[in-house]
Amino acid sequence: MKFKKKILCIGAGYVGGPTMAMIAYKCPDYRITVVDTNPDRIDAWNSAEFPVYEPGLDQIVKKTRGKNLFFRKDVEDQIKENDIIFVSVHTPTKTYGAGADMAADLQFVEKTARQILKYSRSSKIVIEKSTLPVKTALAMERILASGKGKITFEVLSNPEFMAEGTAMSDLENPDRVLIGSHETKSGLKARAELIELYSRWIPSEKIITSNIWSSELSKLVANAFLAQRVSSINSISALCEKTDADISEVAKAVGMDSRIGSKFLKAGIGFGGSCFKKDILNLVYLCRYYGLKDVAFYWENVVKINEYQQERFIANILNNMFGTLAGKKICILGFAFKADTGDTRESPAIYIAQKLLSEHAELTISDPKALKNAAVDLAGIKGNIKYIDDPYKAADGCHALLILTDWNLYKGLDFKKIYRSMAKPAFLFDGRNILDHKKCFKIGFNVYPIGKPALSHFKQ
Ligand code: NAD
Ligand code: UGA
Repeated sequence: MKFKKKILCIGAGYVGGPTMAMIAYKCPDYRITVVDTNPDRIDAWNSAEFPVYEPGLDQIVKKTRGKNLFFRKDVEDQIKENDIIFVSVHTPTKTYGAGADMAADLQFVEKTARQILKYSRSSKIVIEKSTLPVKTALAMERILASGKGKITFEVLSNPEFMAEGTAMSDLENPDRVLIGSHETKSGLKARAELIELYSRWIPSEKIITSNIWSSELSKLVANAFLAQRVSSINSISALCEKTDADISEVAKAVGMDSRIGSKFLKAGIGFGGSCFKKDILNLVYLCRYYGLKDVAFYWENVVKINEYQQERFIANILNNMFGTLAGKKICILGFAFKADTGDTRESPAIYIAQKLLSEHAELTISDPKALKNAAVDLAGIKGNIKYIDDPYKAADGCHALLILTDWNLYKGLDFKKIYRSMAKPAFLFDGRNILDHKKCFKIGFNVYPIGKPALSHFKQ
């Protein structure tokens, strides 16, 4: 079959895989190839067990793979072959040198730009899909312009706003698609090409354009605002616990103001995931770089409140379980950073598990999708840890139950059965406020939600 356009994506991760699968599905006359330097990732995409779990991803990949969607290892040949290149490599927080623990590590993006320059034999559109500090396109352009031949590269910014666990519906029906370009003739031409692609399934009013720098910055700011809402509600949850107010009631009352809105006001053990913390730190670093100390301080506190919320959760467990966890069995239900994903990157569960182990608690960890990752995250950490698929078996004989991920399945568990199998007094710490606390209290649990009065059978 002759394809109308040949598109490459460099980076076959959580973003590259699902986004390209959606483009392939919506544009059957485009050939989409995804490459990665990690051969295991490519093998996994070509197998029955993908490297990423997302509801609905299976069906889309099965409909397109081998037809117009290809996962390949030959990065160099694919750069030569394709006209439009998405760059979807990771941009983690730098762990070394200047800006360590703050700035984005751009080595993978830069290597990709150099690879594109080295292997290209024709002009191309290069699209930043990764989340990048504002002005990264300038560095990419400088690298790409350093070649000697006649070929040219037009760099666009097209940040991805999908969230894990809902990636496929977010990609199919996004709030907006943002395309940043230069206002030059070639910039506008490249922008039109990308608009044409998204127009296949996205209404034109949702495809917005801007200059490149606004586009790069908007992505960081969107994540910072979302994380800020989580930290705001979590900070108020601490006040609720001191005043007998209920954070769900406060969030409902506040969120019904249409100027505020009801989303992203769920209090819990803090935000996790590979992006919020890294992107805010990146924003903080940029502000400091430009001499905006007060602005940097403001955003840094969003991360600090997130850490504070996890510390509070751990202190609450320790205080209520008579000041010692040594030798006590604690069951962790949920290790993923949110429901409907197997991803555990920056999951609050990692830190909480480590802290509990340092108190000499014994852990049984259960999660429907994230147990393999949990075992990797906690590998080498001293202590007694068991990984058990079945939540009932995981809770058996435990002194406390911790809900650390908002998996729907936990709401439907038989808590009478769980209570019977646990050591008494049985403690329940609902770090996501997803359970029926009164019902669990009636069953016999001492219940400790977030930002709500505790329900305890102990006499004060
Ligand atoms: P990831 O780590 O899952 O995937 C990145 C992939 O790029 C890896 O498989 C890696 O091997 C590959 N890679 C790195 N350098 C390469 C090179 N030179 N050539 C070929 N492959 C290379 O990361 P991710 O979660 O997909 O995130 C990618 C980017 O998208 C990040 O900037 C992130 O901030 C952003 N983002 C992520 C999400 C999300 O939900 N995970 C959502 C929106 C935006
Ligand atoms: C987030 C953004 O929502 C996406 O728009 C963005 O594209 C993505 O980051 C990214 O750049 O990587 P994601 O991290 O996958 O998506 O998931 P979210 O739904 O945003 O949840 C992040 C964390 O906040 C989770 O740990 C979640 O449990 C927590 N959260 C979220 C709360 O604690 N309370 C809430 O009300 C909402």
